[in-house]
Amino acid sequence: MSQIVITEEALHWQEVAHKVAEEVVRPVARHFDEIQEYPTEVRAAIAEAGLLGVWIPKEYGGHGAGIVALCMVIEELSRACGGVGVAYAVNALGSFPILVGGTEEQKLRWMPSIASGEKMIAFCLSEKFAGSDAGGMRCQAHLDGDEWVINGEKKWTTNGGVASLYTVFAVTDKTSKSRRISALMVEQGTPGFSIEKIEDKMGIRCVPVVETHFDDVRVPAANLLGGRPGMGFKHAMMTLDRARPGVAAQGIGLAQGALEYAVTYALRRQQFGQNLASMGVIQDMLGRMGTEVEAARGLAWRAATAVDTGDMKAVNRLAAMSKSFATDVAMRVTTDAVQIFGGYGYMKDYPIEKYMRDAKITQIYEGTNQIQRMVVARNLMKEAETYSHLSDYIPTETYEGYQALEEEVGAEA
Ligand code: CAA
Repeated sequence: MSQIVITEEALHWQEVAHKVAEEVVRPVARHFDEIQEYPTEVRAAIAEAGLLGVWIPKEYGGHGAGIVALCMVIEELSRACGGVGVAYAVNALGSFPILVGGTEEQKLRWMPSIASGEKMIAFCLSEKFAGSDAGGMRCQAHLDGDEWVINGEKKWTTNGGVASLYTVFAVTDKTSKSRRISALMVEQGTPGFSIEKIEDKMGIRCVPVVETHFDDVRVPAANLLGGRPGMGFKHAMMTLDRARPGVAAQGIGLAQGALEYAVTYALRRQQFGQNLASMGVIQDMLGRMGTEVEAARGLAWRAATAVDTGDMKAVNRLAAMSKSFATDVAMRVTTDAVQIFGGYGYMKDYPIEKYMRDAKITQIYEGTNQIQRMVVARNLMKEAETYSHLSDYIPTETYEGYQALEEEVGAEA
């Protein structure tokens, strides 16, 4: 069983991210939320600090600090602004397909420019009619000479328009069941590629979420990840396993940030001749919020450690557990933080309502929490064979003979 491993390097990047978050992100968070615009100077500061190379192996131009370090950075940024947290994290999401499925040549071709911050990358999986059912996508690509031609639309492309590279999943073999989908890299500016709809969102407002359209978009055959078609769905799933601890970290950052505002306010706000923090009811709330945040962090770091140590058997289950648990915690904690601020918390001139708005989407994107729990349940059912002897201790009357009875009833009918 994988334990949490925190390296000196991870702690270093956590410190760097904390500094960027407090000095650059927090002061402008409200402004960019209001105007719903991408904070270019924040992106520059993140790149300047070296944060975009954290999860990328050293041989591809990164710092090779791993996924625990990535989670720590995402948490620090999200603690100051959920939008900036996801804008950063999507670079990991978009680049994981290259790392898990790309050829050596492809990794060397694209990863260094992502690590340096020269290129931002986005992830195009979801479609209008294929959200939770990612495998049901319709965007398709066919080979024409030595080029792939892509046609279709993608939904919810985070960082769309500001990214210069897009990892696009498309159907390349309609007749195949398990090898239908492939991943192709598309550069911004390729003819036929366009951004058609910029969403107006409840939260994470500083980061663009768009529709990406592909109208006879031609990319060289060398842009097919892995060099052979049909591996796309597997690579998308492997990507999500690696990225979901990062969504957990977004939730933890939002919850931690809201909790800190709530404690600060509770210590100052006077009612009934005392501050809120000295009241039992408020202490009960704060105590539960703090405990939940810490539990979520432990689970996220454990999932991230499983990726870092190559404990791939545990990754799928732990990633889904941590994503769903931490983002539910984020929703509860940010809502309670607004409650502690009372009527003021509901107002836009206070910083707390933004945390609640930013938290909501974390329960939805990168796989809804209902999908995560389905993934966890599937894992639990698979593991059941390791304790099948427990059947010996359960009276069999409720299930044995059921099949025979069914057949008997069927025969009578
Ligand atoms: N690793 C490797 N392979 C995997 C895998 C994993 N974790 N999970 C599944 N696979 C493989 C299976 O082994 C199977 O392979 P074979 O065909 O060779 O047997 C294949 O993939 C199909 O697996 P399933 O039958 O389990 O697939 P499914 O259709 O039942 O779907 C699902 C499973 C978990 C529901 C999946 O569709 C899913 O995760 N859905 C949610 C999608 C999602 O998270 N979308 C978010 C997009 S990103 C975003 O939100 C935008 C943003 O920018 C932030």
